[in-house]
Amino acid sequence: MGKGKHKHRQHGTERTTMAERADPHDLYQRSVQDVETEINFVDEVYEELRDRPARSLREDFSGTAGTSCEWVGRREDNVAWAVDLDETTLEWGRQHNLSKLSPDALARVHLIHGDVLTATTPGMDILLAMNFSYWIFKTRDELRSYFEAARSNLDDDGILFLDCFGGYEAYQEMKESRKCDGFKYIWDQAEYNPITGDMTCKIHFRFPDASRINDAFTYHWRLWSLPELRELLVEAGFSQVDVYWEGDDEDDPDEGSGEYEATLQGEADAGWIVYIVAQK
Ligand SMILES: C[S@@+](CC[C@H](N)C(=O)[O-])C[C@H]1O[C@@H](n2cnc3c(N)ncnc32)[C@H](O)[C@@H]1O
Repeated sequence: MGKGKHKHRQHGTERTTMAERADPHDLYQRSVQDVETEINFVDEVYEELRDRPARSLREDFSGTAGTSCEWVGRREDNVAWAVDLDETTLEWGRQHNLSKLSPDALARVHLIHGDVLTATTPGMDILLAMNFSYWIFKTRDELRSYFEAARSNLDDDGILFLDCFGGYEAYQEMKESRKCDGFKYIWDQAEYNPITGDMTCKIHFRFPDASRINDAFTYHWRLWSLPELRELLVEAGFSQVDVYWEGDDEDDPDEGSGEYEATLQGEADAGWIVYIVAQK
């Protein structure tokens, strides 16, 4: 978790820095997550593939359950289950995200403090594992077991949605920063081991007063490739696995359009992010 750094002494009195006053979960939600866009995508694709709107959604590795809250707010019969191992993070979600829901929507979201491998839920229309969280599983056997568990928690016509990033920059140890409202977000690909595929990524935050939160979040992952993931999903029993690739912006081919289409033809870009859609 983030550690607030440095205090500035001003006229002999100690003042708190912006980093000390900031909340890493709040910063994460504002810089990393875009739950509206994510839910727009899964909602549209489900309806396109199944010819009816989805109703139930399970969010694995849910963190603060922001996506589940977005889901139950969309339609009045939507229900969501959010699963995370970390009770402190779930509690943050209760206090800051669930607390903003109407009593009716609140009754339709369920937080499960548990392991995604073993937490069982009713058969879902949609199961989500976003922001690459499933990369904590570092062997084919472990990841296949997770995909089998996910499949078993889907209804007969349920759909698993994952995201994945890659491109030649994914193999580089490098940092990139982005300006957000009131702070800077820094993505740090701190270590990559080409022999095992192990990578360590970190998120840091910097503030206008020069204070910072280093290592606010650290991830120990395996950098999986799309062919490996497609094969493992089929081995886990999914009947159809599609990669949704982002189209190009009409005015600037170096920018994405925000529209994703199922395709077997990607591009050798420096960095890409895709959705993987696996039908039970
Ligand atoms: C990168 S965060 C994901 C947050 C959110 N899904 C998103 O899209 O931004 C990863 C979360 O996975 C949780 N986690 C890690 N291993 C888990 C497991 N085996 N079962 C359930 N949750 C797990 C961590 O506690 C952490 O909150």
